Amino acid sequence: MEYITLKNSDLRVSRVCMGGCPMGGYGWGVVHENELISAVHASVEQGVNFFDTADVYGLGQSERTLGRALGTNRHKAVIATKFGVRIEDRVTFYDNSPQWIRKACESSLRRLDTDYIDLYQVHYRDGKTDMQSVVETLEDLRREGKIRYFGLSNLSLKDLQELEPWKGTFASVQNQYSLACREHESDILELSDKIDLTPMTWGSLGQGVLTGKYDSNTTFGSDDRRSRNAYVNFRGEKLLKNLEIVKVLKEIADESRKPVSAVAVRFILDHIPGSVVLCGAKRPQQIMENAQALGWNMKREELDALERISRT
Ligand SMILES: NC(=O)c1ccc[n+]([C@@H]2O[C@H](COP(=O)([O-])OP(=O)(O)OC[C@H]3O[C@@H](n4cnc5c(N)ncnc54)[C@H](OP(=O)(O)O)[C@@H]3O)[C@@H](O)[C@H]2O)c1
Repeated sequence: MEYITLKNSDLRVSRVCMGGCPMGGYGWGVVHENELISAVHASVEQGVNFFDTADVYGLGQSERTLGRALGTNRHKAVIATKFGVRIEDRVTFYDNSPQWIRKACESSLRRLDTDYIDLYQVHYRDGKTDMQSVVETLEDLRREGKIRYFGLSNLSLKDLQELEPWKGTFASVQNQYSLACREHESDILELSDKIDLTPMTWGSLGQGVLTGKYDSNTTFGSDDRRSRNAYVNFRGEKLLKNLEIVKVLKEIADESRKPVSAVAVRFILDHIPGSVVLCGAKRPQQIMENAQALGWNMKREELDALERISRT
């Protein structure tokens, strides 16, 4: 195992986090709640103690399943959830107002069946509520014992000015990053350094394309978000490029006797120092394979080969 303490906190977490988006049971094809629950149990048993979810994943279903799965093991887990995205009457919008943060927090606590959230993250900024007001509300919730620390998500260097006064306030920032998506690399490195945040990556397996099980004939059903054009990792030239990356991943995986997904995760762990890698998982085998990224290092020439093939 490999653990890290999130910046500005005493949260000690495994550097691989089980991502709870598929746990929402919506938009990832077929998922079975019993397998998700077994995946959480397997994680805790193997020392993967960090779980990321959000109030909107499956309109609360992800938090419900995670809470149910953890049960009496709650104290062994570090739970990160998010607020700030609202869906009402099938309309999605962002809301960071104090009223909504409070309401969202109470609902998340209820669904997770817990007294406290370890890491409460701003999912998206709403473009109107002052950061001062967001921080004050989060500080109040902390004083009330409902949350322990706070984090950020989907921010970049263009947000630096707004964030600078809050250096030392937040523990972490989540952004999309993987061998299939390196566009945000310098933003992630600079932002986390300047604001003193632990960088976390989402879409770390390129929504599954970097696990080695998909090919150029892959299609998804309408119950899977990856059937939509927005999921560029499975489209046209980009898919072909990703399959070239997978070819290199497979060679390294064979050589190091690791699952392909673990090599894809290891690249991030080595490439973004002090990072935590979020990997969505639908069943125990997936999170266990992904956790095999921990506790070893790739050879310099292997990292270089992946660097070359994935450079944007
Ligand atoms: N802050 C944000 O805005 C934001 C946005 C997105 C996600 N996130 C967080 O980041 C987490 C990770 O991102 P993600 O779930 O979107 O994408 P991801 O981790 O890149 O891909 C997850 C998918 O890959 C497949 N997979 C995972 N492990 C595998 C393995 N070992 N072998 C084969 N297939 C495997 C599974 O789908 P299949 O088996 O169907 O292929 C799984 O659902 C999320 O769960 C969520 O917690 C945050």
